[in-house]
Amino acid sequence: MINIAVRAARNAGNILLRYFEHTDSLTVTEKSKNDFVSEVDKAAEQAIIEVLRKAYPDHSILGEETGSHSGNDYQWVIDPLDGTTNYLHGNPQFCISIALKFQGQLEHGVIYDPLREEMFSATRGSGAFLNDRRIRVSSRKGLEGALIGTGFPYRDLSNMDAYLEMFKDVTREVAGIRRPGSAALDFAYVAAGRLDGFWELGLSEWDFAAGALLVREAGGTVTDIGGGDRHLESGNVITGGLKTHAALLNLIKPHLTKNISC
Ligand code: IPD
Ligand code: CA
Ligand code: CA
Repeated sequence: MINIAVRAARNAGNILLRYFEHTDSLTVTEKSKNDFVSEVDKAAEQAIIEVLRKAYPDHSILGEETGSHSGNDYQWVIDPLDGTTNYLHGNPQFCISIALKFQGQLEHGVIYDPLREEMFSATRGSGAFLNDRRIRVSSRKGLEGALIGTGFPYRDLSNMDAYLEMFKDVTREVAGIRRPGSAALDFAYVAAGRLDGFWELGLSEWDFAAGALLVREAGGTVTDIGGGDRHLESGNVITGGLKTHAALLNLIKPHLTKNISC
């Protein structure tokens, strides 16, 4: 199954690369405020579904662009282009994310950066890999010297004040904060130790289902914003190596409001 996911991600990657030099001529529509989709997102999702359907016609699929396709207890969760805003600006930080769940449990995850030819993959119980190399989260003991990823609110701005309070507190404690613009790649980078931790509010399941498995298999921790396990449902998530995660959670938790669900 992981091989099928890798094949699907490579096919979609070829599509993303083919159009990347010509993003000016793409037809772009705004699904909702600041939520853009182009024909490339759709074509990439079609390519992924084609590979998955051919191999596993009975599996269910949840795709960002085509919604849910019912089937058996296996469910593929697909983001065909994570980092669309970057992509449409010719900014080279985007990827494809594909996860497989069985009866609700994450079994496989693949995140592919076609520009750098970096294939991140994980299977439950078998570790996390970047291409053929095993990866681990960073062993940092806390926030001192840490490089932390995040996502700024840009669609739903209702939690902006709470977010900025979190941001201020984290900024005071760490070496740097990055907002690269592809949550799936941010998770992959946490898994590879390139970021010590990451948090964001309001993600969708397809943004980080594969990433959550990658971080876990790389020895890291993923929780919802209150420290529980409802992150895939709420989309409010904190991740990192064990100690960095705990320290981040400590700083962020006091700023939760009724409006931010765990
Ligand atoms: C977005 C990216 C971004 C994150 C957003 C996501 P998209 O995904 O992952 O980094 O901040 O919340 O929606 O729309 O480019 O697939
Ligand atoms: Ca996404
Ligand atoms: Ca997307």
